[in-house]
Amino acid sequence: MDKIRIRGGRPLRGEVEISGAKNAALPLMVAALLSDEPLTLSRVPRLADIDTLAKLLGELGVTIEVAENAGHTLTLNAAAVTSTVAPYDLVRRMRASILVLGPLVARFREATVSLPGGCAIGTRPVDLHLAGLERLGARIELEDGYIRASAPGGLKGGEIHLATPSVGATENLMMAAALADGETVLSNAAREPEIADLADCLNAMGAAIEGAGSDRISIRGRPRLSGTRHRIMADRIEAGTYAIAAAITGGAVDLLGARAAHLEMPIECLRQAGVTVEESTAGLAVKAAGRLASVNLTTHPYPGFPTDLQAQIMVLMALAEGASLISETVFENRFMHVPELTRMGADISVSASGALVRGVEGLHGAPVMATDLRASSCLVLAGLAAQGETIISRVYHLDRGYERIETKLAALGADIERIAS
Ligand code: UD1
Repeated sequence: MDKIRIRGGRPLRGEVEISGAKNAALPLMVAALLSDEPLTLSRVPRLADIDTLAKLLGELGVTIEVAENAGHTLTLNAAAVTSTVAPYDLVRRMRASILVLGPLVARFREATVSLPGGCAIGTRPVDLHLAGLERLGARIELEDGYIRASAPGGLKGGEIHLATPSVGATENLMMAAALADGETVLSNAAREPEIADLADCLNAMGAAIEGAGSDRISIRGRPRLSGTRHRIMADRIEAGTYAIAAAITGGAVDLLGARAAHLEMPIECLRQAGVTVEESTAGLAVKAAGRLASVNLTTHPYPGFPTDLQAQIMVLMALAEGASLISETVFENRFMHVPELTRMGADISVSASGALVRGVEGLHGAPVMATDLRASSCLVLAGLAAQGETIISRVYHLDRGYERIETKLAALGADIERIAS
């Protein structure tokens, strides 16, 4: 297993190109299942999670052509789907695999998908996905760790209220409803920008979706969808991570392609902490100097502060002047990075109300271990700001969600290298 070595203390300077969003690319790849015509996606990030999903789609009979441009353009063709079974071995590696359930049952009237695994952050059930499909007329059975969904007469539009605005359930149900008979209204839908990106692509495929990006989405089902070309939105979580990297090292970095409109709460929080964030035509410019100030924050579904940036912002607060309370409302058990940050000198205590972070003047390098995707990026950030050497093990978590992170950081002046196992 690879490790990453960082010698910290250097301010980051320069420009970094933000990759396409992993969390938009995954549902967009799955959307290819809805049509027998090719779907071409550009700005696909090169990540382990993308490879895992490509493997799963390949297993179902989807062909995937990779264009020459460093693998960032994929053409997916689901004209000859040979299986509607998503096996445990592939699904367990990535929770987003559950997204194939809705499209498969919508187009092929049956699907068998293993119950997912994924990051070890909370229990993360899929009950909302299943209840929503039942509202669209699917019959759902759970057997031997598998979900079996069937709809012999096809799915029928219906009213679905999500008890929690789940991102994955919103995407799964929106895709399924696009091929259902009649109109579906999804209320308390998730509002994440990745959902609007998916809806844009589905509409270009001939779907009739309105309201994506708001909490009420209406979908008029169509008998079939066509192929299209779609460019994936920039990754707002990657952009936020590099913004924090610039801030905690007292650097100045331009995030090319990042969009301020997708990062309102994180930008607000950075500004309150004393970071300068400016929008330009190319993206966002972030700079900071001197010690930053602590800010309290609570994660919420979009447009709230994203849970996927909670671990990273905690590093900034760990070094800020004063104390900050960070509360997590989206996932339980998402403070697994705290013991590792503590080993680097952070002063953080976790209680029922959240993590109380008392800012310290500096962190020191240490050997640490990544526990999940966003926790691993927070350890990289801590390593960049710390004095001395940090060695991060289990970086496969990082490879799931950050494209060429060590190359991008090195280009900004970080002393970072991957040690292959
Ligand atoms: C997506 C993102 C992930 C991000 C998360 C929250 C992708 C591929 N992943 O994950 O990076 O951290 O949104 O912003 O886009 N829940 C239920 N029942 C369900 C589904 C979800 O109770 O059927 C709960 C979950 O346990 C969790 C909350 O809803 O507490 C939010 O989960 P959800 O929005 O579904 O996250 P994902 O789509 O898995």
